[in-house]
Amino acid sequence: MKKLLVNIFALFTLLLLSTGCDKHFKEPMVLGGQEVSAAVLNQGKEKFMQNCYACHGETGDGKGPASHYMRPIPRDFTHPEAYFKFGGVEAGQLPNDETLTQIIKEGLDGTPMLPWDLADEDIHAIIQYIKTLSPRWQKEKPGKMVLAPKDPWAGNEAAGIEEGKKLYHATVQCARCHPSYVSKQELFDVTKALLGYDMTEIDDNIYDPQLRDSSYGHKLIPIDFTYHPIKTGTEPKRLYQTIAAGIGGTAMPAWSSLTAQDLWALTHYVKSLADLRDTPKAQALQKALRSQPPFVAPQPDAENSEAVEN
Ligand code: HEC
Ligand code: HEC
Repeated sequence: MKKLLVNIFALFTLLLLSTGCDKHFKEPMVLGGQEVSAAVLNQGKEKFMQNCYACHGETGDGKGPASHYMRPIPRDFTHPEAYFKFGGVEAGQLPNDETLTQIIKEGLDGTPMLPWDLADEDIHAIIQYIKTLSPRWQKEKPGKMVLAPKDPWAGNEAAGIEEGKKLYHATVQCARCHPSYVSKQELFDVTKALLGYDMTEIDDNIYDPQLRDSSYGHKLIPIDFTYHPIKTGTEPKRLYQTIAAGIGGTAMPAWSSLTAQDLWALTHYVKSLADLRDTPKAQALQKALRSQPPFVAPQPDAENSEAVEN
């Protein structure tokens, strides 16, 4: 009898829990400045549990049963700062629904976050549900979308690539974190021409990405474009957006101080590197860079014998 009672009690709790789950939301909520009905939030929760739970976890903290050993780790949607990487808004701001939809539909290349073939309505509901998980969405609206203007290098892409290469290695120094793709002599020359100083030493490790801290609990690789896939792909407008907006929660800042002309040049240059990926050309380039003779900086005043004492 006691056993039966315990069983009935267990059944009752289970029922209560499951109906409780279905009707989790009873009131509408204002999220990112928009009112969302309880029905949409309940639908979003159900679809999240069906499709996203395995990685993003039951509570949305990124610790789902399939998440173990994943690098990058699945996004934790419960973080008070609500970090997102590729929101299409200046790094650090909350993303808008349009970009989140794009990420869910297209996935993130080279990561376990695959493209999802779900009904638009379900994606919309899941996005709204995700917003209930971090308190930040109740206090703040999404940022303004960073959009690519007209490409000033259209029809003249080769010149854009050359300009982007200079910006990347000298003026903007993307190669502070990402690898360099020019010989040490070229790096010396472009630095002297654009920044006006002589490099005295050039390390061999400029050809390797330099691991950087992030807000995601582990260090991140500033990718080698000839080797790692670009997560948001190489479609030029999206690539422009990713570069200009920066990557939230990572060392990669927004580059909003640059002109559209420079940002487009960088886009063309990065795309030209990404297009080499998985081709023999990428290997040939890496081999050539890594088998250079040791760099000997030219003596600054060698020709001026009075300045040289010994
Ligand atoms: C197989 C594991 C897996 C599943 C299933 C999965 N994701 Fe992800 N998701 C990831 C990983 C890993 C990342 C982190 C990628 C990174 O940081 O580069 C991620 C990141 C994200 C991001 C953050 C993008 C950004 O810009 O920061 C969103 C949004 C997202 N997932 C939504 C979803 C939704 C919605 C579903 C269900 C429809 C889902 N994910 C299912 C693994 C998964
Ligand atoms: C302070 C370090 C740092 C600098 C400087 C930097 N990046 Fe990054 N970048 C990163 C990191 C870290 C990542 C990897 C983020 C991730 O996906 O987790 C990254 C990723 C990227 C990606 C891949 C985005 C994707 O969708 O996967 C592109 C493209 C990129 N950077 C372009 C640039 C360009 C162009 C510059 C110069 C204007 C630059 N970066 C400067 C740190 C940096």
